[in-house]
Amino acid sequence: MTTSCPSSGPSSRDGADCVVLGRLIDFTGDPAESGGAAVRDLPGGALALKDGRVAWRGAAAELPADVGTAPQRDYGSCLVLPGFVDPHVHFPQYRIVAAGGRGLLDWLDRFAFPEEARYADGAHAAAAAEVFLDLLLAHGTTAALVFSTVHEEAADRLFAAAERRGMALAAGKTLMDRNAPAALRDDTETGLRASERLHARWHRRGRLRYAVSPRFAVTSGAAQLAAAGEFLKSHPGALMQTHLSETREEIDEVARLFPDCIDYTDVYDRAGLLGPRSLFAHGVHLSARERERLGEAGAAVVHCPTSNGFLGSGLFDIGPYAPAAGQAAPRLAVATDIGGGTSYSLPATLGSAYRTAQLRGRRLAPERAFYLATLGNAEALDMEDEIGRLEPGYYADLTVLDPCATPLLAAREALSETLADTLLALMILGDDRIVRASWAAGRQLHPKPG
Ligand code: GUN
Ligand code: ZN
Repeated sequence: MTTSCPSSGPSSRDGADCVVLGRLIDFTGDPAESGGAAVRDLPGGALALKDGRVAWRGAAAELPADVGTAPQRDYGSCLVLPGFVDPHVHFPQYRIVAAGGRGLLDWLDRFAFPEEARYADGAHAAAAAEVFLDLLLAHGTTAALVFSTVHEEAADRLFAAAERRGMALAAGKTLMDRNAPAALRDDTETGLRASERLHARWHRRGRLRYAVSPRFAVTSGAAQLAAAGEFLKSHPGALMQTHLSETREEIDEVARLFPDCIDYTDVYDRAGLLGPRSLFAHGVHLSARERERLGEAGAAVVHCPTSNGFLGSGLFDIGPYAPAAGQAAPRLAVATDIGGGTSYSLPATLGSAYRTAQLRGRRLAPERAFYLATLGNAEALDMEDEIGRLEPGYYADLTVLDPCATPLLAAREALSETLADTLLALMILGDDRIVRASWAAGRQLHPKPG
């Protein structure tokens, strides 16, 4: 039986606003650490949703009587997963995907910076935020850590659009005080004052968080980086995002700009930017020392495989991020890095991570890959108590995937014997066509109801 759920979540007289039926897939930990026990696969499962959160999970056959009369949405044999979490994505680059440059620094100068300059116009930013967030949802992503531009108003527009959708979004205005066009530069004082105001307006307002966002060591001098470090220390719960060790050319430039530092990670370390809520995008060329230091600090390295391939940055090695490799390994997260990245789809990004691992002689198990895109990325964002699992008390952020979405997937699925087979096919062959629906805080947002 398929009836429609309310598109907003008015409380019903009984125990749920809505019941979602399908094959429930989620992870209670990293399968690479705890093996099959961390993988939960419940065909014929049910989730009762109430006030934006999961109120009950279990077998549909065992639905409690008090939720029996709530409207049901039946996804049959489709996979119902926690909404995907994208821990590194650039809002103002939402439409410069597939702009070919000679490498990162050339690509920034020729494509990213000119496009970001348009966000001085608040109306442009407001319209872009709608398209950007709808693209995330169309690809099954319901939470993200986002770089905005240097402009305060653009960040305001992004937060407001996320709030209207009820999405979990962490974001920050970019800090840049050199090596960028004048229209995109701030200075230590103005950049931090704007970050303070945005933090005061948006941090922990509903599902939103503030992330202090120095772009990278090429575009922020030591004073601005240190000010960002102070901000992080004095705003408990705030996140920090930046870029680290993406390309050889960039690393050489950072060595020239910071001759006293031991290596690139040391530049951020001296500024006080390493910590358990710090996310470093890329980390393709990190040394063992740098990984150890990041691991000690509890920081996350965010692997962005489609971007690394497209910009020719290098082949990230997931080997040192296997839990068995030692306690000091940094947390691993996986992200799209739109617009250097080439797909908004987390499953497609996992497929790219899988291929990159193959080229490095490693293996990324499909269950671990989907753990990373859900609970693993939520852990990197310090949101693991609220998102990333299908569990009572967690936000009802859901991604519904159709394993037979295309003729090829349907033919492939007929041969699948295990969950790993199904997940691998979705990673390697999937894109937005596999997303049947996306829900945030108990509301179906994609496809748009009505
Ligand atoms: N490093 C500094 N800025 C950026 C950016 O916008 N994209 C990528 N891929 N790397 C960066
Ligand atoms: Zn990036």
